[in-house]
Amino acid sequence: MRRTIDWADGAIVIVDQVALPGEYRILTLRTVTELVDAIQRLAVRGAPALGAAGALGVALAARQGDDVRAEAERIAHARPTAVNLAWGVSRALTQLPHGADAVLAEAQSMLDEDEQRNHTASAHAAEVVLDACPRRPLRLLSHCNTGHLATVSWGTALGVVWHLHERGLVESVLVDETRPLLQGSRLTAWELEQAGVPYRVQPDGAAATAMARGLVDCVLVGADRIAANGDVANKIGTYSLAIAAAHHQVPFVVVAPTSTVDKAIATGADITIEERAATELTEFGGTQIAPKGSAVFNPAFDVTPHALITAVVTEDGVFGS
Ligand code: MRU
Repeated sequence: MRRTIDWADGAIVIVDQVALPGEYRILTLRTVTELVDAIQRLAVRGAPALGAAGALGVALAARQGDDVRAEAERIAHARPTAVNLAWGVSRALTQLPHGADAVLAEAQSMLDEDEQRNHTASAHAAEVVLDACPRRPLRLLSHCNTGHLATVSWGTALGVVWHLHERGLVESVLVDETRPLLQGSRLTAWELEQAGVPYRVQPDGAAATAMARGLVDCVLVGADRIAANGDVANKIGTYSLAIAAAHHQVPFVVVAPTSTVDKAIATGADITIEERAATELTEFGGTQIAPKGSAVFNPAFDVTPHALITAVVTEDGVFGS
């Protein structure tokens, strides 16, 4: 699978995640304005991929000789919850005094690192899952999209599925559709289909019932920001999944690179949660579905307290151990 985000011929190239699964389309982003728009439309999304977008965005601004620090601010604030975006921007900026080529070299090495970190984190997490779950082969539950598309390549929580599938240890994956933007049914199902891993898409509301029926051996999710105390911000619905998993004694494992850890944030209560447009809920495929003018509550993420999590796993191993 090609990289979700990369640098080619003086521009940022991304796999357009709005077009999938209908069309596999590559977008070329030549300006910071195009990049910010792609981030806000979720054409590029997922915390680790946003880290790469932040770094490459600074490289783009530096090569174009813009007011790089002002452009960097604009990129860092394109979305607020995933710490990776601001992290990618600030790390690329450290090379600015050495010139545009040094910024680009730093950004490119961050892309390589992202692949390695996620591959390692998900390998560690696969061992955690095997220790926590006696049944073979495993029936796993996935929320949002945490695969190749959410990272430079490979993935975090879905990376665990790739490792276990390579060893013949995956029976199937229950894929939460992940309302309202359907990253599960559009993107995760597409990735599992490509990889030949058996899966079933389910409405988010079916997850607790699936656990009650004994159909889930482990829940695997990613993270957008991990606070110093191990609380985890991730796609809306993750907290409800964790509560259901705790109730049914199903292991609940979070997988993320250390670039998602924000030690400056003491607890999950301090994480800024993005609220998105009302039309994501009042319309579907361009058709009005709620009464015109309906007020909405549309947080894109929620916070899961560390106490509900079996393990948060990074490339360094189990967080906090
Ligand atoms: O709004 P999105 O699609 O960017 O949200 C993504 C998620 O919540 C993912 O679970 C998270 O970024 C981890 S991805 C490896």
